[in-house]
Amino acid sequence: MNTNTVSQLLAKDQFGLEIEIKGWVRTFRAKRFIALNDGSTINNIQCVVDFENTSEETLKRITTGAAVHIKGELVESQGKGQKVEIVVTSIEILGDSDPENYPIQPKKHSFEFLRENAHLRTRTNTFSAVMRLRSNLSFAVHKYFTENGFYNMHTPIITGSDAEGAGEMFRVTNLDAKNPPVNQEGKVDFKEDFFGKETNLTVSGQLEAETYAMSLGKVYTFGPTFRAENSNTSRHLSEFWMIEPEVAFMDLAGNMDLAEDFMKSVINYILENNKEDLEFLENRLLDEEKTKPQSQRSEMSLIEKLKFVVDNNFKRVSYTEAIEILRNSKPNKKKKFNYIIEEWGADLQSEHERFLVEKHFKCPVILFDYPANIKAFYMRLNEDGKTVRAMDILFPGIGEMVGGSQREERLDVLKEKMAALDIPEEELWWYLDLRKYGTAVHSGFGLGFERLVMFATGMTNIRDVIPYPRTPQNAEF
Ligand code: 4AD
Ligand code: MG
Repeated sequence: MNTNTVSQLLAKDQFGLEIEIKGWVRTFRAKRFIALNDGSTINNIQCVVDFENTSEETLKRITTGAAVHIKGELVESQGKGQKVEIVVTSIEILGDSDPENYPIQPKKHSFEFLRENAHLRTRTNTFSAVMRLRSNLSFAVHKYFTENGFYNMHTPIITGSDAEGAGEMFRVTNLDAKNPPVNQEGKVDFKEDFFGKETNLTVSGQLEAETYAMSLGKVYTFGPTFRAENSNTSRHLSEFWMIEPEVAFMDLAGNMDLAEDFMKSVINYILENNKEDLEFLENRLLDEEKTKPQSQRSEMSLIEKLKFVVDNNFKRVSYTEAIEILRNSKPNKKKKFNYIIEEWGADLQSEHERFLVEKHFKCPVILFDYPANIKAFYMRLNEDGKTVRAMDILFPGIGEMVGGSQREERLDVLKEKMAALDIPEEELWWYLDLRKYGTAVHSGFGLGFERLVMFATGMTNIRDVIPYPRTPQNAEF
């Protein structure tokens, strides 16, 4: 006899097998029916207890949340809703769960409550489905790149540079905060710090990934990134995971093709491999939508939305075209946007991005060729001298999912740009070296993994797609 998972047992069509299973009780009904879950699938297996021959004391300990070890026989189910069930011959309580105090009761809990109990929330159907999907999406990412000739690179987490130049970094130090060493100018002397210089947690692995692209050709990094921006929104985390491919000899058009093909591939992977979890989440959303007025319900179900992305081309639109569309849009003319678009050069806010994808194009949109001065220093300047080869991919319900660009490969242009932005050459000497020795066109992008998981699961708060969210004023667990 060997120990199975619920997922394996539910797939069996041989009956009369003697089996063993360990898991947690979801519900126990009529002193007879245990719905048992072990996390291997969204589905529970029904275990039928012979209550007449089981002690009252044991029956009392079969409570929601308890861990149990069951031995029994796999039989064809008499009841509806499942093909097989277990006739229990022995049950051992491995760990009790006091029904008075166990937070995860068999009823609907609010996501806010479950966030406070994030250590237990994966014992619910919704969160176990989300986290199984997250895991499989992560696997699909590595699978895609490996199968397409990319090498996985582990970029450093502690770094001295600010890749995005936004100054939103968490400092890494072991200096005594109460009594730091001071230099002659009266400022904190970071030469005395652990690394002998100022360091921070990385905001992006891009700059280091570029160095490897310029030797290994096609690389990607998939790791944690950190941003000390004080934006308490449903789409921002202070710690999130980013997927960043970087490819030598690839221009912006190639970058768009790669991003689109990659996203379609990973979404297709979960459509094929996570059917039950997706169906569960789809039904959850349908129930939720029933409480909304008709006008606010979405036109497509979750699985339809995912299939739509896989089956349709992303719309490619230049920033200049997008500004024209926005300028002439109803919410702009009626002053419904918080930020009214008046001139070319304006930075797009999420309200504008959402208008473009949700109201105007109704599909994923790749916006490209942004004004140079609203984008990072490393982006390739176009011949017009005012736009850069940047691309953002916007998704319905999410907004910005991807940010990327063709990189500035010309040493003189890059140096000018850095000087204009006061970025010291000494800090990025190694980055400049790439432009001195065998420089070439190259491109890459960054995809916020949690935003992808949001899209794939239909969850609307980014705190609900990462195990333990870090946000301003919150680092519990
Ligand atoms: O647009 P961003 O800032 O681009 C970069 O960091 C580039 N260095 C990437 C590259 O070209 N290699 O960030 C990339 C993506 C965004 O499009 C968004 O999906 C996600 O990272 N992102 C966040 N996700 C969650 N919380 C935050 N605070 C995020 N900030 C960015
Ligand atoms: Mg961006």
